[in-house]
Amino acid sequence: MNTATCQLRYASCETWLDRYASMRRHTLDLIGPLTPEDMVVQSMPDASPAKWHLAHTTWFFETFLLTGRTNYTIFDADYAFLFNSYYEALGARQPRAQRGLLTRPPLDDILAYRRHVDTHMQALLKDDLDDATSDLVRLGLAHEEQHQELLLMDIQHLFSQSPMALTYDPGWQTDETGRPGHFQLRPGGLVEIGHAGAGFAFDNEGPRHKVWLQPFEISDRLVTNGEWLGFMTDGGYARADLWLSDGWAQVKAHDWTAPFYWRKTTDGWSELSLRGLDPVITAAPVTHISFYEADAFARWTGARLPTEFEWEAAASDGALEQTDTVGWQWTSSAYLPYPGFHASAGAVGEYNGKFMSGQMVLRGGASFTPAGHARPTYRNFFKPEQRWMRSGVRLARDLT
Ligand code: AVJ
Ligand code: FE
Repeated sequence: MNTATCQLRYASCETWLDRYASMRRHTLDLIGPLTPEDMVVQSMPDASPAKWHLAHTTWFFETFLLTGRTNYTIFDADYAFLFNSYYEALGARQPRAQRGLLTRPPLDDILAYRRHVDTHMQALLKDDLDDATSDLVRLGLAHEEQHQELLLMDIQHLFSQSPMALTYDPGWQTDETGRPGHFQLRPGGLVEIGHAGAGFAFDNEGPRHKVWLQPFEISDRLVTNGEWLGFMTDGGYARADLWLSDGWAQVKAHDWTAPFYWRKTTDGWSELSLRGLDPVITAAPVTHISFYEADAFARWTGARLPTEFEWEAAASDGALEQTDTVGWQWTSSAYLPYPGFHASAGAVGEYNGKFMSGQMVLRGGASFTPAGHARPTYRNFFKPEQRWMRSGVRLARDLT
């Protein structure tokens, strides 16, 4: 069900109008298999209802590109409260954990809201854009692409709560399989990290700066489910010596014994995916693990997680496989500003910078990530205990 999308970096997608229309259409394609009821429920505080994603991404374009322009009329003045996610500069909002209480406005109103904003965006995009406007358009496109991935994560989580092992799409692709990883020797030294140049990047990917790396080894592939089963069989989830203290507390508090979507069946382990429940594929990369699990697994093998800088240096040289095809890869790096980073003034400056505490960086991309969305400098970030993302692990180690 990977609809051909016009990707931001593709020359064939020449005009803003084409890029915008194709990105917006893809969001509607993603909700194709859902019923209106599926789109209202919030399965946990971290997840949002599909209806909320449809509206919030639309509110983003309305707020940052349309509000205040001549000829634009706000679709509904209540929506600023309902669909503002976290922008303090834009006022009060529906509490995050209560997004699932929004049975009204109904889905039809949200779809009409999307059409209203699309009409006005299309009028705007017909003309030449100044640099400030085109930067905001690119941000709005990348923003909705992030929510396309979140939409899939949140649907998977919602469906996992059903006793019936619901299927989103029986034809959803299975994860790529293959051999286990091999460590690649990397010389280290002085490397340049971060985005530079003309293409789009989020503000947190810069400024580009120099980082010194010790020589290291990094695996060319992700850790597989089969390797993870070895960790489980060896008592990995029962051995406190393998875990960070905060991680061990999570193991105990939530009775972790396997990756998030694994389910014990009479014939062994199965995994819930957007296809439904299938036996675990041992040769596919493990996904839906927390930072703490990735870290404990690495310690069990005598290796460690790569830093985000090791990851980027190796990926930029083409030394890694599976960089963005299956799962995001936890790094040992805390999500922090690069030297010289300053969030922009105004509400848009709240996009990434204010989340730079208590989270870890993931690199790469995942099978839920829209094509062309990620890049080697991309910094995804989540809290170390979160597991509903398509997160996996790539090992690194010091030279001995
Ligand atoms: C980068 C995935 C952590 O989920 O808050 C969506 C993406 N930013 N809207 C998040 C995002 C603004 C962000 N993550
Ligand atoms: Fe958002």
